[in-house]
Amino acid sequence: MSQRTLVLLKPDAVKRRLVGEILRRIENKAGWTIEALELRTLERQVLEQHYAEHVGKPFYEPLMTFMSSGPVVALVVDGERVIEGVRALAGPTDPISAAPGSIRGDFGTITRENLIHASDSEESAQREIKIFFPGLA
Ligand code: TYD
Ligand code: MG
Repeated sequence: MSQRTLVLLKPDAVKRRLVGEILRRIENKAGWTIEALELRTLERQVLEQHYAEHVGKPFYEPLMTFMSSGPVVALVVDGERVIEGVRALAGPTDPISAAPGSIRGDFGTITRENLIHASDSEESAQREIKIFFPGLA
């Protein structure tokens, strides 16, 4: 089943020059296609929408500060089971638990600075794509 997912390469990925490495891993997957891509510094209001499910949690404010600390690369990837697939490439939220070979396992440092966001379901993907790429048909 072909689907779309919203991916963010977070400010740590851009600062550490890991954008090419991460995009390479995504592009290496047969049949996945980048449909939209933009380098962008996120305004607070965009981040509030994106991370609405986490409002009030202890990590929320530090997360907002981190996500505003520099530009991100936002992209939409289309392909077979791409939602589950990019989450698998990323590895678990906490880089310490992430296996070598995963993006967070290979390059992650602490949970907040874990390099990549990827939508976690069809519903999240639709919601998040509308936030970042409202013009995408
Ligand atoms: P979450 O949606 O739980 O993780 P994921 O990015 O794997 O879907 O959390 C969103 C981001 O919030 C996560 O990527 C990093 C940050 N975060 C923390 O800083 N501390 C935490 O304890 C958690 C759970 C998340
Ligand atoms: Mg999440």
